[in-house]
Amino acid sequence: MDKIQLLKEIEEECRNADLPLKAGATNLVFGKGDLNAEIMFVGEAPGKNEDLQGLPFVGAAGKNLDKLLEKVGLSLKSVYIANILKYRPPENREPNSEEIKAHTPWLCRQISGMKPKVICSLGNYSTKFFLANGEVDKMKEQEGITKLHGKVRMIDFNGLNIKLIPLFHPAAIIYNQKLKVEWENDMVMVKQEIGQKSLA
Ligand code: URA
Repeated sequence: MDKIQLLKEIEEECRNADLPLKAGATNLVFGKGDLNAEIMFVGEAPGKNEDLQGLPFVGAAGKNLDKLLEKVGLSLKSVYIANILKYRPPENREPNSEEIKAHTPWLCRQISGMKPKVICSLGNYSTKFFLANGEVDKMKEQEGITKLHGKVRMIDFNGLNIKLIPLFHPAAIIYNQKLKVEWENDMVMVKQEIGQKSLA
C-alpha cells in the first residue's frame, strides 16, 4: 500500500476512535502536507481555526510558520505537519497527560507511515514527547525548549532513526523579536540538515 493510502486509512481509523476531547470538538485535525517530504513538523494542539477547518496550522500560528519557512525555501505545502493532540482542547488550554497518552499513538502511526528523516518539534510539549521517546510519564523530566532549541540530536523513535530539531513554537514568536532572531538561526540548522536538494 502506498504512503498516501496508508495515511488515509490511519486517519479514518483515528476519526472513528473514541478519544478524549472529541466530544467537544468540531473536527478531527489529523495532519496535512507532503507525505513524501523528508521533514515533518509536530506542533501541540489545534486551535479554533484548526478545529473549524479540520487542518493543522491554518490560524495565526500557521500563517507565521509559513512566512518563517518561506525564508529557507520551505512552505507548509512542502513539509508534513501534525500535532500531539488530534482534537482542540477547550479554550486552547494546555494538554494533560491523559490526553497526550490517548492521542499520541496516532501521531506514532503517522510517523511510522511517513518515515520522516527529520522531525522539527514545535514548542515544549512536542519536544518533550520526542525526548522522552514517547513515554508520556517521562516528559516532565525533559529539558525545555529554551535550552534545547536549534540543537540537533538523533533519536531512535519506534525503530526509526530520526534527526530531532526542537524549535520555538511559531505562536510564541509572533510578538517576540528576540525569539524570531533565534528561530532564524535555528532554521539555518534545519536547512543544513535537510540538505540543499530538498529546497526550492
Ligand atoms: N498551534 C499548534 O500547535 N497546532 C496547530 O495546529 C495550531 C496552532
